[in-house]
Amino acid sequence: MINKTILRKNIFNRKSIVLSEIFDNKNNISLWKRKLDESISFGAEEIINDNLEFDFSKVLKYNEINEALVNRLGQSQNKIFLFNDISNLSELFCNMFELKKVWLRMGISTNATCPRFHVDYLKCRLLTTYYGPGTEWLPNDLIDRRKLKFNQKFSKDQDGLFSSKTDIKHLAIGDVALLKGELWSGNKGQGLVHRSPYYDEKYRRLYITIDFSDLNNQ
Ligand SMILES: [Fe+2]
Repeated sequence: MINKTILRKNIFNRKSIVLSEIFDNKNNISLWKRKLDESISFGAEEIINDNLEFDFSKVLKYNEINEALVNRLGQSQNKIFLFNDISNLSELFCNMFELKKVWLRMGISTNATCPRFHVDYLKCRLLTTYYGPGTEWLPNDLIDRRKLKFNQKFSKDQDGLFSSKTDIKHLAIGDVALLKGELWSGNKGQGLVHRSPYYDEKYRRLYITIDFSDLNNQ
């Protein structure tokens, strides 16, 4: 039996504190760039190799997450490192927003189901990718939001939303992002514009999102 307590790490360090920049009105994303420990990456790879696809979606306290993931995905030393990382990020999210539970989703996607840039109608979402390409996003000052709305239904390319493909930012493996949505107080019309990674060729991606447990009552 692997001792999960010993493997737990404290992530509330001087690097993760950068995520609190989300509380600044002028920001609609905060980004903690980090390099994943090898053991976490190996855990992600094991899950990718074990599963063609799966979806995990549960509302949990952060200290229930390890067990729930072990029950769903099995355990190995590397997987436990990964599950601990997810627990730690959930604890961080709970502490930041004074929550008792989070809505954790984890899954494998094989390509972008929807290539359109969009905003989320929620307060704030944490996301990270453990394997494969990361989420794409556009800085506020480089976009024409009128095109976002107009083109959301009619144009795959969303012509005019941004002027150059080099404007598109890519989250790297392991990066932890907090994305501010339209329902954050004072952020209406300023939600972060983003999309799933979009490539012509197929890819495999292991990702998580952490949300408020009740999206309609934030
Ligand atoms: Fe989204």
